[in-house]
Amino acid sequence: MDNDIIKAYRQKALIANNQDTRRSRQEPMPLAEKPVPEDAAIIRLPEPDLLDDHEVSFLELIECRATIREYKDTPLTMKELSYLLWCTQGVKMMPSPYVTRRNVPSAGARHAFETYLYIDRVEGLRPGLYRFLALGHVLMEIDVSDGIKEKLGEAFYHRPAFENSAITFIWAADYQRMEYQFGVRSLQYLFIDAGHVCQNLYLSAYTIGTGVCAAGAFDDELLNSALKIDGDNDFAVYAAHAGKM
Ligand SMILES: Cc1cc2nc3c(=O)[nH]c(=O)nc-3n(C[C@H](O)[C@H](O)[C@H](O)COP(=O)(O)O)c2cc1C
Repeated sequence: MDNDIIKAYRQKALIANNQDTRRSRQEPMPLAEKPVPEDAAIIRLPEPDLLDDHEVSFLELIECRATIREYKDTPLTMKELSYLLWCTQGVKMMPSPYVTRRNVPSAGARHAFETYLYIDRVEGLRPGLYRFLALGHVLMEIDVSDGIKEKLGEAFYHRPAFENSAITFIWAADYQRMEYQFGVRSLQYLFIDAGHVCQNLYLSAYTIGTGVCAAGAFDDELLNSALKIDGDNDFAVYAAHAGKM
């Protein structure tokens, strides 16, 4: 049964069979970021130009990267949060409203993720659910009500790492942004792209004494529902918990 699914996917997703896309039909390109409601509460982050660099031996960084599931109570600063967001999804260039160049690679430079954050301990921020707006390098508040931590926590199978993290990153696909160029093959590109993003989180977090635990084991429906996304075009692909070591 599973083999049939894989076979069917591979047949449909073969590059040679995949020429009929919205791009090949010259349809309008999807925007590089999901729309932001007009009344959204926007929170500025320290600008990327003002971030401190952190010198680390390259081999130390590669060899010491490890999954950390327990964190100190110490909060992260806004500057550290800004640094992690810059390293994972920072926009370096925007040649048009449809195309971005970022600090991670992405198939066709489609960069089809929106970053959601459950923030528990960042100085100056109320605990709650936020979205990172990469184009403006700012945060948008989504839900800072009391029940949101519980709701998100129910979605993660390894709950303690979520419970005691300072920040949980959740990367959710905007499927049409990738599908525009790659059709059915988009799914595998989204999964590969997510790995690049999370690896940059592991590495950048290490340089500021912060541990990371990648999280792929979650209940999709519960997580999408907690993020208030439809689970159809927009769906969580990957997540990671982080906190001070
Ligand atoms: C795709 C992926 C999904 C993962 N999902 C989880 C998870 O849901 N919960 C968890 O505790 N660790 C998760 N991990 C972390 C792995 O368990 C960890 O990387 C592995 O044990 C190797 O340890 P290391 O990262 O310290 O080298 C995941 C890692 C990857 C790459």
